[in-house]
Amino acid sequence: MSKGVSASRPGPRHVAFIMDGNGRWAEQRGRPRLLGHRAGARRVREIVESCPELGVEYVTIFAFSTENWKRTQAEVSGLMTLFRRYIESEAQTLLKQGTRVRFIGDRLRLDKKLRGLMDMIEALTAHNVRCHLTIALNYGGRDEVARATKRLARDVADGKLDPDAITDETLPRYLDTHVLPDPDLVIRTSGEARISNFLLWQSAYAEYEFVDTLWPDFTRAKFEEVLDRYGSRDRRFGGVKA
Ligand code: FPP
Repeated sequence: MSKGVSASRPGPRHVAFIMDGNGRWAEQRGRPRLLGHRAGARRVREIVESCPELGVEYVTIFAFSTENWKRTQAEVSGLMTLFRRYIESEAQTLLKQGTRVRFIGDRLRLDKKLRGLMDMIEALTAHNVRCHLTIALNYGGRDEVARATKRLARDVADGKLDPDAITDETLPRYLDTHVLPDPDLVIRTSGEARISNFLLWQSAYAEYEFVDTLWPDFTRAKFEEVLDRYGSRDRRFGGVKA
């Protein structure tokens, strides 16, 4: 069994997930899509819990995209309820597990109660260091870059930032993820090979794994298989093999 570290090289420090396939999982069973999302939430619990044991320090999950508002009102409000319940029911467990929770994305469009819970769990777990869970909620990579650029432009206008001093290390300081390392591995479930506006800047050198399994069936054992494959890959970051 993998411990997230293979003989060839260390396992990924930061794994990001595009948790796709909840709807199809439910439809295959003739059940409402929300049931698939609920099963997906149970899988989130299992995967997050496994991370420290597998050597994964940072885990980021794509829970709701800036495009997901286009779904039916019933599905959107069902998802929002699920996020609230997840925070309420998991807060103490995550605290005890040593997991620090953060959110990325534009919070302004989220309802007040959910925002309050997000603030609560971030504050509650702020001193945890064993594992870092980041939940992308109302998140879109292009939207994040646009919001970051707005803040950067404001600093230029206020004379706090010299345009000539801007390098490729400047923009990441304005991104929602500014305190996180870049993901080493991005996993998308359900057989779709797209990145869907997720961590566009941050994934420049990430490895991608597209797995056929639907998210609610993505067990810890399947996660370990992916980590084993990652361990045998050779990352060169544009250079040549050492
Ligand atoms: C994509 O599957 C999934 C989502 C848009 C929602 C992700 C949410 C969860 C896994 C629920 C729990 C999350 C937390 C943080 C508690 P899809 O609905 O697009 O699936 P489909 O492509 O089969 O329709």
